Formats: sequence, C-alpha cells, structure tokens
Amino acid sequence: MKKIEIDLNINETPYGVRVLPNDTLLEILRDKLDLTGSKEGCDEGVCGSCTVHMDGKPVRSCLTLGLEAQGKKIKTVEGFAHGDELSDLQQSFVDHGAVQCGFCTPGMLMAGDALLTNNPRPDEKTIRRALSGNICRCTGYAKIVEAVAHAGNPQDHCPDCQNNK
Ligand code: FES
Ligand code: FES
Repeated sequence: MKKIEIDLNINETPYGVRVLPNDTLLEILRDKLDLTGSKEGCDEGVCGSCTVHMDGKPVRSCLTLGLEAQGKKIKTVEGFAHGDELSDLQQSFVDHGAVQCGFCTPGMLMAGDALLTNNPRPDEKTIRRALSGNICRCTGYAKIVEAVAHAGNPQDHCPDCQNNK
C-alpha cells in the first residue's frame, strides 16, 4: 500500500506525517509522532484508553483513521498540562487518588474534560454516564468520579482536597 502525506493539527501544533491509508490515529500518535499518552488497550473500541478529542468531542483513536483526522482539531492528553503545571482536572485526579496503574487515566481525562467543557457542574449520574465507555481495572471508579465532580465544583467542601493541602 502506498504511503501518503497528511497534515494534522494536534494540541494546536501542525504536523505533516507520511501514513498508510489504513493507519489509525492512535498508531500515528504513538508510533509516528511519539505522543504516547493515548494508550492502546483493546484496539477495538471497547476500553476507552485511546480516547482523544476531535473538534472537542471524545473519539476512539483506535477506530479513527488518520485520514479522517485531517482538517480537525485533535487534542490529546499531552495538551492538558502547561509545562509542569497540571490542568485542574489532572490535579483533581491526583488529589483524589484517582490514579493507580494509570493506564486508563488519559482516556478518563479526555472523557471528563469533554463533559466539563459542555457541563461545568455535572451531577454524579451524569459523570458516570460520560465515563461509562472508559474501563478502569484498578480504582473501582469512585475516586475517578469524585475527581471529575470536584474539578467541576472546586468550591464545594471536599475532605480529600483539604487533606492534601
Ligand atoms: S484501545 Fe481504543 S477503545 Fe480500547
Ligand atoms: S488506574 Fe489502572 S486501569 Fe485505571
């Protein structure tokens, strides 16, 4: 199969990259651009660990062709922090102990961020629904849900955060 050159906009940075027509966005991110934050779990659209944003919406990068990503704004987990400063959602994951092995964390952050962008103060049911496509084998989900809830409601009483200050 013949390679072609495509242009991608990832985390507001332009990239020109030679790909096969059937290369997935996940393969391009990880193998060609060294953006390895997005994880390959199931590689068939089930686990959510490869979630990125495409024009603000969470998509499975293992099911998205690189060709489909042309002309779209792609955001990956590498686009969250500014230097050493974590985003509010990332910091909330740390404060709430929402990360164990960390494999699901990039996908959870992408799903949580997409939710909070559209609904800054979601209730627990809404958070659980938004994260329902993302599988975590470690945390039991409660801490992840708390982390997203608190990132959306930072003024609320939160014993976890106070313990960490
Ligand atoms: S690796 Fe894409 S959904 Fe599991
Ligand atoms: S923290 Fe290990 S899979 Fe979620």
